[in-house]
Amino acid sequence: MVESILPLSVRSLSYSVGAVEVIRDASFAIERGSRNIVLGANGAGKSVLLRLLHGLLLPSGGQIKWARADAKFKQAMVFQRPVMLRRTARENIEFALQVAGREKNISHAARAALESVGLTHLADRPARLCSGGEQQRIALARAWALVPEVLFLDEPTASLDPTATKAIEEIIAAINNTGTTIIMTTHDIGQAKRIAHRVLFLHRGRLMEDALAGHFFTEPQSPEAAAFIKGELLW
Ligand SMILES: Nc1ncnc2c1ncn2[C@@H]1O[C@H](COP(=O)(O)OP(=O)(O)O)[C@@H](O)[C@H]1O
Ligand SMILES: [Mg+2]
Repeated sequence: MVESILPLSVRSLSYSVGAVEVIRDASFAIERGSRNIVLGANGAGKSVLLRLLHGLLLPSGGQIKWARADAKFKQAMVFQRPVMLRRTARENIEFALQVAGREKNISHAARAALESVGLTHLADRPARLCSGGEQQRIALARAWALVPEVLFLDEPTASLDPTATKAIEEIIAAINNTGTTIIMTTHDIGQAKRIAHRVLFLHRGRLMEDALAGHFFTEPQSPEAAAFIKGELLW
C-alpha cells in the first residue's frame, strides 16, 4: 500500500498582494477521507487559499506540508467554470489521462468515468456544446478518472441552477465515498450543510473557525460566523 499524501499540515500561512494580506496567518490540518468546506463571503480569500494549497500560488509566508513529496501528482482541481478542450467529452478525459502519464486502458477509463457521472450518452459530443451543468460533470469525471487522493473544488456549482447543482453535489459525495478527500469552497450555507464534515470559515483573509459541521452551524464561536450563518454578513 502506497502511503497517503495526507494529512496536510498548514502553518502560519499568509499571502499578500502588495500591502494587502489576502490570507493572514492560517493554521490547520486536513485529514484523510474528509469533506472539508472552506466557507466565507465573496472576497474572503477562499479561491486564493485553495490555489495556495494546490500549489498554483506560492505563499508569502508560512508552510504547506504534505505527508509525501510527490503530493502534487495526487491532486486534481475543478473550477467554477469548467475548462473544456475543443474535443469530445470522452477525448477531454482521455487527454487528461495522457497528460498525467497513464498509458494503459485510457479509453476504458474515460468511458467508466463518464458512466460514473451519468454522461455515457454524451461521450462523442463536443464538450463545448454541452450545457454548463454537463460540462461541470465532464470536468468532475475528468478529475475523478485521475483517481486523485485530494480533489479541490472552487465554487463548482456557483454558475449552475438547482437541478444541476444537485447532480454535482451527488457526484462529489460519490467521489468522496471512493476515498478521495474533498476540499471545496462555497459561499452557500445550504450547500455547506449538505456536504461538509468540517467547515473552515474564512472572513477577510482570516481563518475564524475550524470546526466539525455540526458544531459550526449550531454553536459558532465567533460573531462573524454567527452573522454569516444568519445571512447577515455579506462581506
Ligand atoms: N492577484 C490578485 N491581485 C490583487 N488582489 C487579489 C488577487 N487575488 C486575490 N485578490 C484579492 O484577494 C481577496 C480574496 O480573493 P478570493 O480568494 O478570490 O476571494 P473569494 O474566493 O473568497 O471570493 C479579494 O479581495 C481579491 O480582490
Ligand atoms: Mg472565489
